[in-house]
Amino acid sequence: MTRPETPPSPHQLAELDLLLADRQSDWWDRFYADRAKPVPFFGTAPDECLSEWVRDGVIPRGTALDLGCGNGRNAILLARSGFAVEGVDYSQAALGWAGERVKEAGLGVRLHHASVFELSIEPAAYDLVYDSGCFHHLPPHRRESYVRLVTAALKPGGWFGMTCFRPEGGSGLTDEQVYERRTLGGGLGYTEQGLREIWGEPLRIHTLRQMKPQPAGSALFGQSFLWALLAQRT
Ligand SMILES: C[S@@+](CC[C@H](N)C(=O)[O-])C[C@H]1O[C@@H](n2cnc3c(N)ncnc32)[C@H](O)[C@@H]1O
Repeated sequence: MTRPETPPSPHQLAELDLLLADRQSDWWDRFYADRAKPVPFFGTAPDECLSEWVRDGVIPRGTALDLGCGNGRNAILLARSGFAVEGVDYSQAALGWAGERVKEAGLGVRLHHASVFELSIEPAAYDLVYDSGCFHHLPPHRRESYVRLVTAALKPGGWFGMTCFRPEGGSGLTDEQVYERRTLGGGLGYTEQGLREIWGEPLRIHTLRQMKPQPAGSALFGQSFLWALLAQRT
């Protein structure tokens, strides 16, 4: 994955977005409309990796931002664990669900209805930025700006945790095919080398492992076709 010498302008990014209009907020609204669908991440179980890192004190308590927070299952784990949490998602249906869950749990999570690229994120404000399954739905031309926004949001020494598709979990499309076919095909898979190239330069990678699959009915979420990545802003 090569890095362009000059980042695309906001106008160029918006033009490229239009080429790939198959996975936008309205698509996610329809996806979240039926909460009874057997979608693994529609449950309440938080990610096993996040739970482990918090439990073991690898990620100390502090401020946290959950990017593409969906129904709030990870934001709620963080709030219960003592983090001051904000979540952002551009699907109103997802965010409404997260709001209901947060209220039911009696927790105080600040939820923002916005694209992660449009939210005004205070620089160096977060001890933890977390992303479970958002990055792999971003088109290739948004990768650079996403890495920049995550890095800018973190305090020095802050942590970035992420789960994303391994090659076998993604659509198998190359970046070139994404633009030829004008689709992400359901989300992009990443190789270990690809993730190290993307995240290893601005951040220091602490852990990059396969997510641990969880048995049915587990209180935790884990799928073997996902990576679990933990990196630190130096
Ligand atoms: C696979 S779902 C995962 C949801 C949640 N993180 C979880 O693990 O349960 C991806 C989420 O990212 C959100 N998303 C994708 N692109 C986004 C963007 N540019 N800005 C904000 N949210 C986005 C979608 O609306 C969706 O809720």
